[in-house]
Amino acid sequence: MNKELHQFREQYERSSLNRSDLHVDPFEQFKSYLQIAVEEKVHEPNAMALSTISEEGYPQTRIVLLKEIEKDAFVFYTNYTSDKAKDIAHDPKVSAVFLWKEMQTQVRISGLAEKVSREQSNKYFATRPRKSQLGAWASDQSSNIDSRGVLESKMEEMETRFKDEENIPAPDHWGGYRIIISTFEFWQGRRSRLHDRFRYTQKDGTWIIERLAP
Ligand SMILES: Cc1cc2nc3c(=O)[nH]c(=O)nc-3n(C[C@H](O)[C@H](O)[C@H](O)COP(=O)(O)O)c2cc1C
Repeated sequence: MNKELHQFREQYERSSLNRSDLHVDPFEQFKSYLQIAVEEKVHEPNAMALSTISEEGYPQTRIVLLKEIEKDAFVFYTNYTSDKAKDIAHDPKVSAVFLWKEMQTQVRISGLAEKVSREQSNKYFATRPRKSQLGAWASDQSSNIDSRGVLESKMEEMETRFKDEENIPAPDHWGGYRIIISTFEFWQGRRSRLHDRFRYTQKDGTWIIERLAP
């Protein structure tokens, strides 16, 4: 690397966030921001870094994709035997962050995760490409495997198993989680590190909005 890390320095001046522009409902605020992200061609704007708490008390973070926005929750899909699922079973508190680099925007959320209904998972599973459906059957996510060959032969096994099925059912070990959100934070990069930050916290059914120092 011929550039030192301290030489990476971005000026944030694309946009601003004003209290008067904020929607009273953070879900509406998120949706309108997401719309801008889509228009600005942000790569995978639905990707979020999701943190869970392991049984040993360590935060564990990985990327998952936001697939549905509900009235009070965000939904992602995963394997119910994965490490993140074990973490959630032990402690449902989670947080997530979206980085929309091209917009110089960050959105943070936190809340409690719970499984969605089997019906909801089945419905989403049916929309996935066939190969992704087979992948969900083939991968025992987060378990140790000896080689890539193990995974590929499991995939072949599943291709044979479901070759006559037009619609592949969702495995029981696969499904969605809804994060019932209690806080949002919208961050907009500004000049001289004087960024705009607004936090929404839910109190007695209404959302309180506060500006935070950057
Ligand atoms: C861009 C991107 C999107 C991803 N989307 C998902 C997803 O929606 N669901 C999922 O289970 N894993 C997704 N992953 C893989 C996870 O980051 C992670 O490796 C996997 O879920 C296992 O995590 P765990 O062992 O902590 O449970 C994605 C990874 C990337 C880089």
